[in-house]
This record gives sequence, C-alpha cells and structure tokens, in this order.
Amino acid sequence: MVQGGRPSGPGAMLNTPLVLNSTFRAGGELGYGRSGNDTWAAFEDVMGELEGGEAVAFSSGIAAASAVLDLVPIGGTIVAPTSFYMGLWSQLGERAESGRANIHFVDQTDTAAVLNAAQGADLVWIETPANPTWSVTDIAAAADIAHRAGALLGVDSTVATPVLTRPIEFGADIVMHSATKYLNGHSDLIAGALIGVPAGAVFNTVGAPLPSQPWAAFAGVAPRPSEARRPVEIATAPTPATHVPRRWFRLFRMWILSDFGIWTSPGYTISEIPQ
Ligand SMILES: Cc1ncc(COP(=O)(O)O)c(C=O)c1O
Repeated sequence: MVQGGRPSGPGAMLNTPLVLNSTFRAGGELGYGRSGNDTWAAFEDVMGELEGGEAVAFSSGIAAASAVLDLVPIGGTIVAPTSFYMGLWSQLGERAESGRANIHFVDQTDTAAVLNAAQGADLVWIETPANPTWSVTDIAAAADIAHRAGALLGVDSTVATPVLTRPIEFGADIVMHSATKYLNGHSDLIAGALIGVPAGAVFNTVGAPLPSQPWAAFAGVAPRPSEARRPVEIATAPTPATHVPRRWFRLFRMWILSDFGIWTSPGYTISEIPQ
C-alpha cells in the first residue's frame, strides 16, 4: 500500500478523515477553506511523494491543466499535441481566439516537429500516452527540446499514473493528472492535481476541490498497480499479427488510429528506451 499522506505512528488512523470545513479560527496556518484543507493535503502529499515534487489538488484534471495554461504570459506561445484529451482543445482554442496565446499544434511523437515548433515557446504541453490514440511521446527528448527553447515542459500523465511513469525524473517541469481516471479507478469522482507548480502560483485562485473528491481520490491511489498498468500495456504493446479474429479487428482499428503503424507500435519503442 502507498503510505504517503497517511497518518503515522501507533494508534494513527490508517485513512485520512474527510474534513468539511470552510473557515478556521484566526492565528493558525490556514484561514479559509479555499486555501487548504487537511483532506486535500493528504492527497497532495501522496501525489507529491509519488511524482517527486510539490503537488496541488484541483477540482478536475481540466482545472489543473487550465492553471498551467494560465502560467503562460499574455501573447505567449504554447506547443500542444495534435492528439490529446479533447477537453483541452476548447481551452486552447479559446485562448487562441481571444489573442491570449499562440498555439502551435504538432505531432509530439515527431521529435523534429516539436523542435521546430518549440522555438520561442513558453510552454510545451504533451500527453503521454495520449487519449484517445494512445500515442507515446519521449518525455526526456521533449524536456530537452523545451528547455533549450527556454520553455517549460508540462506533461499530462493521467493515463500512465505514477505507477508507470514519473515525468519529473525524465526532465518534465510540471506533471498534471486527472484523478478522475486511473488514479481513482472507480468512476465516482472528478478531481485533478498538478505537481511541480509552486502552490503560490495557483493557490487560492482556480479549481479548489470539494474535500470529498480528493478524499476518494486519495483512497483510490493506494492499492492497484496492476490495473494502472493496463492502459500503458495497451499503448506500448508490440502489435504482431495473430490468428485470432478479434485481434485482427483490434489491429485494424489501431492501424486506422495510429497512422497505419500496423507491425510495431512506435510507443513500444519509446517505452523501451532506457532512461
Ligand atoms: C488524458 C486526460 N487528461 C485530462 C482529462 C480531463 O480530466 P477531468 O475530467 O478530471 O477534468 C481526461 C479525462 O478523460 C483525460 O483522459
């Protein structure tokens, strides 16, 4: 079981209680419930420990991603993938239309394309494995490109979860999770997290979660590494032809979805690179 965020010491509760409180007595560390909550703190502790950085809880994955986009100065440039969770499209589209940011969409499995697009960028955003194509991006290469261009690298690591990938170890600056998906694993909450963004940059502004959401997310983080592995196994599996008809159907579907890469998945190759 993952221990981070759990009370410790003899007699301590194994699970963190659900704290519902909006206001604190004056003179303490916390004054108001939008700035902090013991239940979020447990979720933030475990996420920070698992990913290797300071974590901040959000009301959803999109709220977390949106807070990262807000770090880009007005008129700045964001490099975004062509294949990623569609909920972020509208955020980026709105920013482009209102002139708040220039958005360059590139195929992020194509390192040369990212290199070109990153020149002068403020943020390179990747999602790996990407929903819904399950394409895999080389995080270390993207981090190198982003940093040479003077940009931050943000990674939506929702699908991988920290069980499988810890993007900060590969050079990412910011990691984002939708806890709604594999981190929780029960389809009974909406929550998100950022790791690597100083809390002060986003604190008290957007997306503070209802305490019940990170409480349930925290409970979901602990136990199921084998389930967390499943989507990445799919994303990175080599795809040899087999004699099973159902397998052929899946291969055909992947072929359509993944630029006709029927014999070997490029994601498999990237996932095999020793880092
Ligand atoms: C990869 C990925 N990122 C972000 C999100 C958005 O997260 P949320 O629904 O928690 O806002 C999702 C949701 O499906 C997702 O799959």
